[in-house]
Amino acid sequence: MWMLPKSTSCRGTWLLVVVIPAVFFFRAPSALGEYAGPDTCAACHSDIYENWEPSRHAKAYSNEFFQKAWQDNQQNPECLKCHTTGYTPEANHFQFEGVTCESCHGVLNEGHPDTAEMPVPISSEMCVTCHQKTYDEWKISKHSEKNIRCFDCHQVHAQGLRAGGGDVLCGSCHQNRINDFAHSTHHLEGLKCETCHMPVYATARSMIEGTGAAGHTLYVGAETCSRCHEDMVHKSAKLPELREKVTRINQQMVAAGIDDIFALKEKVDDLEWQLLRAKQGVWVVAVLFVILGLSLGWLIGWYIYVRKRH
Ligand code: HEC
Ligand code: HEC
Ligand code: HEC
Ligand code: HEC
Ligand code: HEC
Ligand code: HEC
Ligand code: HEC
Ligand code: HEC
Repeated sequence: MWMLPKSTSCRGTWLLVVVIPAVFFFRAPSALGEYAGPDTCAACHSDIYENWEPSRHAKAYSNEFFQKAWQDNQQNPECLKCHTTGYTPEANHFQFEGVTCESCHGVLNEGHPDTAEMPVPISSEMCVTCHQKTYDEWKISKHSEKNIRCFDCHQVHAQGLRAGGGDVLCGSCHQNRINDFAHSTHHLEGLKCETCHMPVYATARSMIEGTGAAGHTLYVGAETCSRCHEDMVHKSAKLPELREKVTRINQQMVAAGIDDIFALKEKVDDLEWQLLRAKQGVWVVAVLFVILGLSLGWLIGWYIYVRKRH
C-alpha cells in the first residue's frame, strides 16, 4: 500500500512526481471529452434513437450532398465542426459521424442514469453553435421576444415540424390570422404562411455553413411579393404562370440570386454601427465642451488680467 512520506519536503516531491501526473492521466480522457456514441444511448432510449436515426442530423456527415461538397472543398476540416460529433481541430479528428445525442446533451455523464442526470437543453441557445444565421434571424423576431423557441416549432429528435407544420402549426397560435387567411385568395391559390413569412433564398453561398435555411425573421419584404407579382396588376393571362410559381416555391425549388436577408442584416448592422457612433459622438461632444469651457475661462481670465494691468 502507498504511504505518504513523513518529511514535508519529501511529501512535496511525492506530490509533484506521482499525484499530479496521475490526476492528469486519469482525467485526460474526460477532459478531451470521450463520447459514448449514439449506440450507447440507444440501449436504453431506443424510442428516441429510432426517431433520430433517419434524421438529417444523424446523416449530417454521411449524406451524399455533404460528402460531395466536402470533397469539392478539399475536405476542409472546418466543415467537421458542425457535421460531426467530438471534433478536435488540434488533432483534426472526430469521434462520431453526424449530429448525435451528445452534440446536444453533452458527453454521457458517468453514473447516468443511476446517480447522474443528463442535461435537457431547453433554450434556443443550444442550436446557435451550428445554426448561427437562423439563430440570428430568429433573435430579431417577435418570436424570440416572446420566448417561442426553436423546438416549440421543431421536433428535435425526429426533426419534423410540430403539429405537422405549415398553416396548422402557425394557426395553433395565430388563430385570427388563419381564420381570415382560410378564405383569402392566396390560401386558395395554395400559398402557405411560410411562402411569405419564411422564404428560402438559395444563393451561391447557401447550404454550406447553414445559410440555406428558410428565413426566420418573419419579415415580409416587398421583394417577397415581387417574386410572384412583378407589377401588382393581376392580369388573368398571368394566372397559369403565377400558379406554376406557387407550385415551384412549394416544392422548395427556389428563385436564385436574391439575397435580401443579408441586405437586411447589413441594414441592422449599419444601424447598430450608427447608434454606436452616435453614442461615441456624445462623448466626443462632451469632452470638446469641457475643453472649450476651460479655454474660454482661461481666455476671459487672461483678458481681465490684461485689462487690469493697463
Ligand atoms: C439537436 C439536438 C438534440 C439531439 C441531436 C438529441 N436531442 Fe434529446 N433533446 C433535445 C432537446 C432540445 C430536448 C428537450 C425538448 C424536447 O424534449 O423536445 C431533448 C430531450 C431529450 C430527452 C428527455 C425528454 C424526452 O423526450 O423524453 C431524452 C431522454 C433525450 N432527449 C435523449 C436523446 C437521445 C438518446 C438522443 C440521440 C439518439 C438525443 N436525445 C438527441 C435535443 C437533442
Ligand atoms: C443504462 C441505461 C441508459 C443509458 C445508457 C442512457 N440513459 Fe439516459 N436515461 C436513462 C433512464 C432510466 C432515464 C430516466 C427515465 C426517464 O425519464 O426516461 C434517463 C434519462 C435521460 C434524460 C432526461 C434527463 C434525466 O437525466 O433524467 C436524458 C436527456 C438522457 N437520459 C440522455 C441520454 C443520453 C444522451 C445518453 C447517451 C449518451 C443516455 N441518456 C444513455 C437510462 C439510460
Ligand atoms: C452540432 C451542430 C448542430 C446542432 C447543435 C444543431 N444542429 Fe441542426 N443541423 C446541423 C447540420 C450540420 C444540419 C444539416 C444536415 C444535413 O442535411 O447535412 C442540420 C439540419 C437541421 C434541420 C434541417 C432538417 C430537415 O429535415 O430539413 C433543422 C430543422 C435543424 N437542424 C434544427 C436544429 C435545432 C432546432 C437545433 C437545436 C435544438 C439544432 N438543429 C442543433 C447541425 C446542428
Ligand atoms: C414559429 C416556428 C419556428 C421557430 C420558432 C423556429 N422555426 Fe425553424 N422553421 C420553421 C418552419 C415552419 C420551417 C419550414 C419552412 C419551409 O418549409 O419553408 C423552418 C425551417 C427551418 C430550417 C430549414 C429546414 C429545411 O427544410 O431546410 C432550419 C435549419 C431551422 N428551421 C432551424 C431553426 C432554429 C435553429 C430555430 C431557433 C433559433 C428555429 N428554426 C426556430 C418554424 C420555426
Ligand atoms: C407557440 C406559439 C406560436 C407559433 C407556433 C407561431 N407563432 Fe408567430 N408569434 C407568436 C407570438 C406569441 C408572437 C408575438 C405576437 C404579439 O406580441 O402579439 C408571434 C409573432 C409573429 C409575427 C410577428 C408579428 C409582429 O407584430 O411583428 C409573425 C409574422 C408570426 N408570428 C408568424 C408566424 C408564422 C408564419 C408561424 C408559423 C411558421 C408562427 N408565427 C408560429 C406565437 C407563435
Ligand atoms: C401573401 C403573403 C402572406 C401570406 C401567405 C401570409 N402572410 Fe402574414 N403577413 C403578410 C404581410 C405583408 C404582413 C404585414 C407586414 C409584416 O408584418 O411584415 C403580414 C403580417 C402577419 C402578422 C403580423 C400581425 C398581424 O397583422 O396579425 C402575423 C401574425 C401573420 N402575418 C401571420 C400569418 C400566418 C399565421 C399566415 C398563414 C396562415 C400568414 N401570415 C400568411 C403576408 C403574408
Ligand atoms: C457553423 C456550422 C457549419 C459549418 C462550419 C459547416 N456547415 Fe454545412 N450545414 C450546417 C447547417 C446548420 C446546415 C443545415 C441546413 C441549413 O441551415 O442550410 C448545413 C447544410 C449543409 C449542406 C446541405 C446538406 C443537405 O442535406 O442538403 C451541405 C452540402 C453542407 N452543409 C456542406 C458543408 C461544407 C462542405 C462545409 C465546409 C466547407 C460546411 N458545410 C460547414 C452547418 C455548418
Ligand atoms: C407564391 C406567389 C405569390 C406571392 C409570394 C404573393 N402572391 Fe399575391 N397572388 C398570387 C396568386 C396566384 C394570386 C391569385 C391570382 C389572381 O388573383 O390574379 C394572388 C392574388 C393577389 C391579390 C389579389 C387578391 C384577390 O383577392 O383577388 C393581391 C392584392 C395580392 N396577391 C397581393 C400580394 C401581396 C401584397 C404579396 C406580398 C405580401 C403577395 N401577393 C405575394 C401569388 C402570390
